[in-house]
Amino acid sequence: MSRGFFSVAIDGPSGAGKSTIARHVARVLGFLYVDTGALYRALALLARRCGVAVTDEAGIAALLPAADVRLTCEGGVLGVFLGGEDVTEAIRAHEISQAASDVSKLPAVRAFLLDTQRAFAREQDVIMDGRDIGTVVLPDADIKIFLTAAPQERARRRFLELEARGAAVDYETVLADVIRRDENDARRAVAPLKPADDAIWVDTTGNTWEKSMRFILDLVKGKLAQCSTDSRMG
Ligand code: DC
Repeated sequence: MSRGFFSVAIDGPSGAGKSTIARHVARVLGFLYVDTGALYRALALLARRCGVAVTDEAGIAALLPAADVRLTCEGGVLGVFLGGEDVTEAIRAHEISQAASDVSKLPAVRAFLLDTQRAFAREQDVIMDGRDIGTVVLPDADIKIFLTAAPQERARRRFLELEARGAAVDYETVLADVIRRDENDARRAVAPLKPADDAIWVDTTGNTWEKSMRFILDLVKGKLAQCSTDSRMG
C-alpha cells in the first residue's frame, strides 16, 4: 500500500444502513466518516436553488466551479455546508433524494466530486460510504464492503425515518422511490452501483442494527490487525 492511511469502502443501495454502520465504526475506531451521498445531495440542492434542471448537464456543469460544498465532523456529528450555509437537514428532504440520484448520473458532477472524496483518504484513516467507493473512488481501499438489504426492508426503514421527521409520506410511495432509485443508480453509464470484485457482501435483511454493526466492526478490526501484522513483518 503506498498510502499511509487505512481506508474502508462501504457501497450499497440506499437504505441498506451504510451511514448508520459507517458512523458507528468511525466513532469506535477514531476514523473520519465520509458520507459521499451528502456531496451529491448538496449539489442537487444547489441546482434546485439556482433553478437548473437536474438533467441539464451544461447548466449544472456551469455551477460547479463556484460550488463550495464542505463536510464537517464534530463529535461524530456530520455537517454539510453549501456556500457556508448549514444544509445538513435540507439535503435530507424527500425530493432531494431523487434529485441527487439524477445529478449523480452526470459525468461532470462525478468528475468534480472525485478529487474531493479522494482528498479525505489522503489525509487520515477513513470510512467512506457511497455507490462507487470500492470501484472508482478508492479502488485500493484496505477493505471493501457491499452492504445490502431487501427493497421492502429498506423502504420500511426509510419510511419510519421520514415519519419520525414529520414528513407526510406513505410506505407504497417510499417503496416505489427506493426501487426507482436502485434502478437509476445501477443503470447509469458512469460509475454505476455495483460491488467491487473483491468486496465482502453483507445482507442486513432481518438483522438488528447491533448485529450488523458488530459484524462489520469485527471485519474492519480483523483487517486492521492483519495490516499492522503485515507491515511489522515486511
Ligand atoms: O447515499 P444517499 O442516498 O445519500 O445518496 C444520494 C444519491 O447520490 C444516490 O441516489 C446515488 C448518489 N451517489 C452516488 O452516485 N455515488 C456515491 N458515491 C454516493 C451517492
